[in-house]
Amino acid sequence: MTDTSYDTDTEAEIDAEPDHDGGVSIANPAIGDDAIDRVGTLLEDGTLADGPVVRTFEEEFAAYCDTDRAVATSNGTTALHAALEALGVEDGDAVVTSPFSFVASANAIRLAGGKPVFADVDPETYALDPGAVEAVLQEREDVVGILPVHLYGLPAEMPTLCDLADDHDLFVLEDACQAHGAEIEGDRVGSFGDAACFSFYPTKNMTTGEGGAITTDRDDVADRIEQYVNHGRGETGTGGYDHVSLGHNYRLTSPAAAIGRHQLERLPEFNDARRENAAYYDEHLAELPVETPTEPAGYRHVYHQYTIRADDRDALAATLEDRGIDTAVYYETPIHRQPAYEGVSTAAPRFPEAERAAETVLSLPVHPALSAGDRRTVVEAIHDHYT
Ligand SMILES: Cc1ncc(COP(=O)(O)O)c(C=O)c1O
Repeated sequence: MTDTSYDTDTEAEIDAEPDHDGGVSIANPAIGDDAIDRVGTLLEDGTLADGPVVRTFEEEFAAYCDTDRAVATSNGTTALHAALEALGVEDGDAVVTSPFSFVASANAIRLAGGKPVFADVDPETYALDPGAVEAVLQEREDVVGILPVHLYGLPAEMPTLCDLADDHDLFVLEDACQAHGAEIEGDRVGSFGDAACFSFYPTKNMTTGEGGAITTDRDDVADRIEQYVNHGRGETGTGGYDHVSLGHNYRLTSPAAAIGRHQLERLPEFNDARRENAAYYDEHLAELPVETPTEPAGYRHVYHQYTIRADDRDALAATLEDRGIDTAVYYETPIHRQPAYEGVSTAAPRFPEAERAAETVLSLPVHPALSAGDRRTVVEAIHDHYT
């Protein structure tokens, strides 16, 4: 039976361009006039690279995540790499992570000289299954850390994973690249592990264009990261030619930080709009043969993606595409099956839940600029597909 009650919700009031243009897009970053003005001022001043606005952004981002420190980086991948270097990963060290993530989660471990060792994901949350992690830890002696991914905006099971890490004397590095503002029992992601990494890519819950950040309560880690992202310089700041350790240029630019400050102010509003869109989908897709996302008790999901499962995923995606609705599959190929991972030892040849997820997941548009009409269009198209 066709549900005709889709238009009961109020419109999400975000100032991006209406998401029409003939269709509904999967992402639509909202950069307001205020952010454009702030960037304009920096461009006029010639403040193009690192500078005080980056320091202010770092302080504000740390305060938001309730951590003592934050270090801004050029993107989420460089954040992960710098954090792993600072956490002391050495050649051949194993780090347990998820095979069902963006490839950068595991690539960063390899870039730091380590070995990504995968453990399967939980079929409901798509995050690392603590039982699978424990099984890996019982088998191997070379593991130095755990790198859980808060996939799609839902925190991984951090209390259990942190307990496991404590028992085995391992570090925990959160990949929070998709989960700005997500919480467990009121605690924000970014504050659970030894450190956490964020991406500010344009599709993320907040953006700086390209950009990233690491949050941590550990001064030793933050100090090493600050050096690493700035050519191993001893002092914070771009100047000077004293290089006390090996480093990279992974710095964020001032114009990017100016955008980030403005986006951070609006992140609560963006996340509320994502959650409102998700609640609408939860309600209106409930009777259909698709699995809607889980939000465990005490968790706050920030719906970087609203990802359903459908046995006929590809047919459903084709129906939506015919109606001008963008969807995406994050991720069609689990990392251990990527050609770049051929020959890389990954703990087990198969990760059945990651593989089943890769075959069935489909992300629907959930971004804050979605109008009430857009989400109604999405729901109607899915109903029509199944009725
Ligand atoms: C889970 C995850 N980790 C790492 C990254 C890397 O971030 P960036 O694209 O900013 O390098 C991303 C970005 O897509 C991501 O989604």
